[in-house]
Amino acid sequence: MKQQPDLEWDKLPFGYVPTDYNVRCTYKNGEWGEIQVSDSEYVPLHIAATCLHYGQESFEGLKAFRGVDGKVRVFRMEENAKRFIRSAEGIGMQPMPVELFCEMVRKVVKLNERFIPPYGTGASLYIRPLEIGLSPRVGVKPADEYMVIMLVSPVGPYFKEGFKPTKVCMSREYDRVAPKGTGSIKVGGNYAASLVAGEKAHELGYSVMVYLDPKEKKYLDEAGAANFFGIRDNSYITPASPSILPSITNKSIRQIAADLGMTVEERQIPYEELETFEEVGNCGTAAVISPIAEIHDLDNGRKFVYTTGEAGPKSTMLYNALRAIQYGEAPDTHNWCEIIETEA
Ligand code: PLP
Ligand code: COI
Repeated sequence: MKQQPDLEWDKLPFGYVPTDYNVRCTYKNGEWGEIQVSDSEYVPLHIAATCLHYGQESFEGLKAFRGVDGKVRVFRMEENAKRFIRSAEGIGMQPMPVELFCEMVRKVVKLNERFIPPYGTGASLYIRPLEIGLSPRVGVKPADEYMVIMLVSPVGPYFKEGFKPTKVCMSREYDRVAPKGTGSIKVGGNYAASLVAGEKAHELGYSVMVYLDPKEKKYLDEAGAANFFGIRDNSYITPASPSILPSITNKSIRQIAADLGMTVEERQIPYEELETFEEVGNCGTAAVISPIAEIHDLDNGRKFVYTTGEAGPKSTMLYNALRAIQYGEAPDTHNWCEIIETEA
């Protein structure tokens, strides 16, 4: 392996760090081309490309971990590949086959091996695939040429507090997505729509805005970039909703919770139930598990307090179990990790 960059691995935020290479693959004349390796951080785009005008853009997020045994593990990439297909189909783009997606992931991780954070730093290599529509259009129509790009960045925790509980807020004044819109797929437009509410939450001192369902405003949906869960009486309870992104982390935590003898409930969570939870948190690839200390309802002033200090025992247990699988410290009984053959 080439020399590792001089980074403070254990202090990395969740942000962009330039790396050596990205990989690209173009869909043109009805077929996907060869995987190209690039050292440029830029993409040449037609000024009328559909990604610029009509939001034909989707993305994914997954991670590679340097384990206790020195091996590099990528977590559940086929799940991301499948969701990438759903996202593409949801906005009229050409879906990328699962195997090609996985090949690109393997390649971009290997090419940037020196940026994979060392074991024990708590950091990981974030892999960001994205797909864009390239063809020029002025009428509102899908492109017929597409590009998938995968870039990587070494990252630390999404919330700077890491596993320390944070305060979050909630308001009925904002919708993350439309009820029958694009909420269950991962397209850039959903995140554009969440920026104003997210910045408002930050300005008020909260880590994130948690949304209620966009239709009735009665049930918990999710945060701007992570799923929501509550814990009560040895049950892990998480929203079933057509307007949330089906999180691969959440799916994994549900399995771990069941493996550890907890009851798992995936169902609507009425707002009023918030006061009955013993622990609550957000979960996602970037967020991992981010315990919530308090939820402040900005509309009526209500405060739900879960902890004034550390994360609760069940959230901690689930967090540790998930991290142990990702870092190769515990057996990967569900075959979630693919080991990438690297030099070191
Ligand atoms: N919900 C939203 C809106 C997200 O952006 C993400 C991040 O990908 C998640 C949930 C978590 O999903 P996953 O665990 O698959 O990363
Ligand atoms: C992720 O968890 O991978 C995300 O995509 C969250 C956010 C950075 C958009």
